[in-house]
Formats: sequence, C-alpha cells, structure tokens
Amino acid sequence: MLFDIVTIFPDFFDSPLKMGMIRKAIEKEVLKVKTTDLRNFTSDRHRTTDDRPYGGGEGMIMTPPPLSRAITTLQSVPPEAKVVFFTPRGRVLNQELALELSCQKRIILICGRYEGIDERIQERFCDLEISIGDYVLSGGETAALVLIEVITRLLPGVLGSPCSAERDSFSDGLLEYPQYTRPRIFMDMEVPQVLVSGDHALIAAWRRRRSLETTFERRPDLLGKASLDDSDKEYLRSLGWEGD
Ligand code: ADE
Repeated sequence: MLFDIVTIFPDFFDSPLKMGMIRKAIEKEVLKVKTTDLRNFTSDRHRTTDDRPYGGGEGMIMTPPPLSRAITTLQSVPPEAKVVFFTPRGRVLNQELALELSCQKRIILICGRYEGIDERIQERFCDLEISIGDYVLSGGETAALVLIEVITRLLPGVLGSPCSAERDSFSDGLLEYPQYTRPRIFMDMEVPQVLVSGDHALIAAWRRRRSLETTFERRPDLLGKASLDDSDKEYLRSLGWEGD
C-alpha cells in the first residue's frame, strides 16, 4: 500500500513513521509513505498556499492552483490512486471504512489547513472525504496519521498473529473483552479465575460475554450492526437489550 501525503508540514510525519508497527510495515515493504510539500507547487516568491475567502469572513482558505498542480503531478505516475480529503464534513472513519480502503493499492491524502480548501478542488479531484470524528482539528495531518495507522494494521503480514486484527475491538462489531497479564494479584485485585483455568472453551465463552456486556453498556448503538448468534442475543436480552 502506498500513501502519498500532500501537506504544508511534511516534517510532521517524520517521527511517527519511524516507530513501532508503521516502521516495521515500511521495513517489510508492505507499506510505503511519501510526503509531498505543497509549497513546492506554488508559483510566487512567498510560496503562498492560502488566500482570503470570497464573500468575507474569518480565516484563510487553501487556494486551488498549488493543490491542483500537486494532485495532477502525483496522478501522472502509476499506480492509479484514490484521492482522499480530510474534513469534518466527511464520512466518519470506522473499522468498516478502513477495511474497504485497505484493499487499495495507493491513496493520495490531502491535508487541509486554515479554514478549509477551495470547494472546486474537492469537486474536481476528490474521491472520498473523511472525518476522524465530530470535532475540529487545525489540519488534516493528524487525521492522515490516524488513517495510515488504522489501515496499516489491516495489511497482510503486519501484525504478529494473523488473528490479532480480527480479534480487536470492532472487528466483529463489538468492543474488546478485558485483558490481564502478570502479576496475578495486583493491589488486592485478582485476575478472573476462569483465565487461569486452562479451559479454552470456558475462556472463549467468558470473553464473548464480557465483550457483549461492555458493548451493551458503553456503545449499545454498535449492537445493531454486530455479528450476533442466537446465544449472544439471548445473553444480551438477559442484560436488558431490546434489539432483535
Ligand atoms: N480537519 C479538521 N477537522 C477534521 C476532522 N475531525 N477529521 C478530519 N479532518 C479534519
């Protein structure tokens, strides 16, 4: 998977790409991330990327010519790429969208700054607008990092065990069960007995129930879309769930 990031802050990505899972994925050549400095596509002495909004109002808007030149230049080299813009107006990122995007070969990520991007750029070049949540960031760079991390975990060969990504919260639409490690007793709190029983079927059933409970308590909205069998539903109903 290749990500091309268009940004006025290419240095922003230096250290996050050098750490942990992302660094390993890059070393394994499962992932490649290139940054493109938008200022290299400006045509004035001050390397300007923004301008005042037509119609008046606060803040500055990213001006179309450098963005259009940067995107066209990137698109002129294969492989073909989807162009993604980050904005609070976009489709909210979740595991399902990340899975969809993880099948792409290449994605061009456009990081806006200031009050936003001239609408005509979106109209002409954008395949998908993504929001990472209902709050306002100062730019798309943090959102780009979030998207890269979420997708990278899903790429084949990245996580230690092929099941790790599948077991995560959200992979089956439920929140994850609680996890414990040594010591067995910590500040008077003991690890649940079942987890040291060695009975794998019992452990799996316990974990499933904890997942169902946590999801019901914290994010009942997720249950409508989760993969639930009859015994899950029966258990949820015993907790007070009124779904079908
Ligand atoms: N740019 C500003 N806020 C954003 C958000 N919530 N998600 C994606 N891009 C953004």
